[in-house]
Amino acid sequence: MSPRSQNLAARPPGFVYRETKRGILRRGGLFVLYCEDVPLQKLAEHYGTPLYVYSATMIRERYDAFDAAFRDLPHTICYSVKANSNLTILRLLARKGCGFDVVSGGELERVLSADRKAAKKVVFSGVGKTREELTAALKAGIMLFNVESESELWALAECAGRLRKTAPLALRVNPDVAAETHPYISTGLHKHKFGVPIREARALYAKGSGARYLAVRGVSVHIGSQITDVAPFGEAMARVADLVGELRGDGHRIDYIDAGGGLGIAYEKPNALEFSADVAAYARALAAPLRGLDVRLLLEPGRSIVGPAGVLVTSVVYRKKNDGKRFLVVDGAMNDLIRPALYGAYHEIIPVTQRADSAVKSEVTDIVGPVCETGDFFARDRELPVVDEGDRLAVLDAGAYGMVLASNYNTRPRPAEVLVTGKTAKVIRKREKVSDLLRGEM
Ligand code: LLP
Repeated sequence: MSPRSQNLAARPPGFVYRETKRGILRRGGLFVLYCEDVPLQKLAEHYGTPLYVYSATMIRERYDAFDAAFRDLPHTICYSVKANSNLTILRLLARKGCGFDVVSGGELERVLSADRKAAKKVVFSGVGKTREELTAALKAGIMLFNVESESELWALAECAGRLRKTAPLALRVNPDVAAETHPYISTGLHKHKFGVPIREARALYAKGSGARYLAVRGVSVHIGSQITDVAPFGEAMARVADLVGELRGDGHRIDYIDAGGGLGIAYEKPNALEFSADVAAYARALAAPLRGLDVRLLLEPGRSIVGPAGVLVTSVVYRKKNDGKRFLVVDGAMNDLIRPALYGAYHEIIPVTQRADSAVKSEVTDIVGPVCETGDFFARDRELPVVDEGDRLAVLDAGAYGMVLASNYNTRPRPAEVLVTGKTAKVIRKREKVSDLLRGEM
C-alpha cells in the first residue's frame, strides 16, 4: 500500500481497503473500502445512500474483547441498547449471552422481542421511568432496577406491591467525580440530574429496605460517556466500594455493582487497533477497588461495542465553492447522524474508492448535508483526497449513537441499515419512505 492509503483510516477487521488492479493500460489500481468481504461501493449501488453499514464480526470481536478483559471477575455485560437498538444487533449480542441496559419501555420491548429469555439479564436505568414502564419491567422479571430518586423508589414500591412481585433494586449514586468529556454527556457531578448524591444514599437504602416488595441488591454508578482516561472510572468505583462496605455493615444484601458504561473510542486515531489494550486498562481500573468484595460486576458498554463497527455511507451530490471555501454537499445530513452538529464531534471521513497512485491530490473542504441549517455538517476544513460528484464517502465510527438519533427533520426518510457477515450483506432495517412519514398525520 502507498503511504497515502495508509493514512486513510480503516478499522480492521470490519473496514479495510483492498487494492484492485484496473486494466493493464491504466497506471495504478484502486483502493476499495470493504466491510468484511463486501465492497461498500456495491452496497451503496444496491441499497442507495445514505446507508448505515455494520460489521457483525467486529461487533462480536469487540464484545469478546470486553468479556475477556473482565474474565477474572464475576461479571455480566449489559449492552447499552441506546447506542444502537436494531433488533438484529440485539439478537446477535443476546446469542453471545449478553445482557442489556435499557432506559425506556420501548427499549425493553425491543430486548424482549429480540430474545424473550434476555429479561433476566436486563438492568433498567433512567431518571424518569413511568409507572407503566416500571410495571412492564416487573412483569418481564428483569434483573435490576437502577433507581435514581426517592420518588422513583416509592413509585417502584407501589407498582411492585400492586403486582405482589419483589423488585430487585440498586440506587444509582452520583459519585461527584469529574470525567473529561463533552458537557452534554458527562453525568457524574452533583450538578447533573442523574442519580442520588452518594452521601445521601445510605439513608435512602435504609428507607427502601423497609418496603415490603423492594429488595436491595446493589449499587450502580455511571459517570458519563466517551471517557478515554480510565482514572475517573477507578475513582468512582473506589467510592462505590466504600459505600458497599457501609451498606453491608447496615445489613443490606449487595450482590451487584453496576459500573455503567462510558468507555470512549478513538474517533481521531484512524488505525487504532488498541481496543483490547484500552478495555484491559479499563478493567484494571475498575477491578482494583473491588478486590476482596464479593460482588458480581455489571457493565453497560454501548459505544465501545458498536461504535467502530458501523459507518454511514453517503454520496457526493455537488461540489461547490463560495469564494475560496470549498464544500462537498452530500446526501447524508444531520438528521441521519447528528453527532457533529450536536457535540461538535469528530468523525473520520474517507472515500469509498480511491486511486492508488500517488497522483491523487487532496483538498481542504467542508462536508455538509442538504438540511437548512448551518450546523448541518459532518466535517469542517477537513483534508480529503479530491472526490467527484457521485463518489461515495464513508463516515467512520458511526455504529453508536448514529441511527438511534436519526430524525425526520426536513421530512427526510431515515437511512436503511445493512449488516455484513463475511461475504453476506443483509438489510436489517428498510429505508423509510416519505409515505411512512406521512402515515398517522391528519
Ligand atoms: N449506562 C448509562 C446509564 C448511560 O447513561 C449510558 C449512556 C450508557 C450506559 C452507555 O454509555 P457508552 O458506553 O455508550 O458510553 N449521544 C451521545 C452519547 C450519550 C450517552 C448517554 N448515556 C453521543 O453520541 O456521544
